[in-house]
Amino acid sequence: MERIQKILARAGIASRREAERMMLEGRVLVNGKVADQLGFKADPLKDHIKVDGKILFRPEPKITLLLNKPKGYLSTVKDPTGRPTVMDLLKGVKWRVYPLGRLDFDAEGLLLLTNDGDLAYQLSHPKFSIPRTYWAKVEGVPEKKELIRLKRGVMLEDGEARIVSAHILRQMEKHSWVEAAVTEGRNHLVKRMFSAIGHPVLKLKRVGFGPIRLGNLPIGQMRSLTDEEMEGLKKLIAVRTRDERRGTIEDRR
Ligand code: URA
Repeated sequence: MERIQKILARAGIASRREAERMMLEGRVLVNGKVADQLGFKADPLKDHIKVDGKILFRPEPKITLLLNKPKGYLSTVKDPTGRPTVMDLLKGVKWRVYPLGRLDFDAEGLLLLTNDGDLAYQLSHPKFSIPRTYWAKVEGVPEKKELIRLKRGVMLEDGEARIVSAHILRQMEKHSWVEAAVTEGRNHLVKRMFSAIGHPVLKLKRVGFGPIRLGNLPIGQMRSLTDEEMEGLKKLIAVRTRDERRGTIEDRR
């Protein structure tokens, strides 16, 4: 939420001072109501703002995109040192989407981008425990007991971490591919966990986020989430919210 005069000034309608005058003169409507108080705030993504009868901002539709991030791209909006970011791959997308969580520079795979702040909060917050599924190429072949150790929890420098599921997909002489799911987005979590059991990660690809799957989307390409996928995410959030409330109520007992 921002002061309306600031939104109008940024949109090039008038200086901030002039915008304030326009507001006081009753020329600015927000969602159909006269915005004649200088303290009024609006959200340019959600609110319908009209100046002198002309629509200034139509609320942006909420969109969520799935990108198959290639290696060598940062999953941030900007990099002060000028490295490529995933925003460079979004040519033609007119909405101001931003990446939801991080995927390492050298990792590839499923990255969601959205302009929906509520969804971004819920999908990123650890309390919602959304599983992220990875395929990791690791050194050697982890033994069953090592994977069980990861499921029970290993101590990292920023606290304990657990894998919710893990199994070997393919094993070669010197390395193997493991599918593993975690429910948090801590930095380098999967790499640090596999290093902790002596099997450093050589390659990392995210293939799932909650109910969403990367599937066969080509590398560097993106697509919008389907209605079914959005429904799936919302259902998962609803279940987690209910579980959390129950937990809180039980904690209070
Ligand atoms: N874990 C990692 O180590 N890196 C990622 O990019 C995501 C999870």
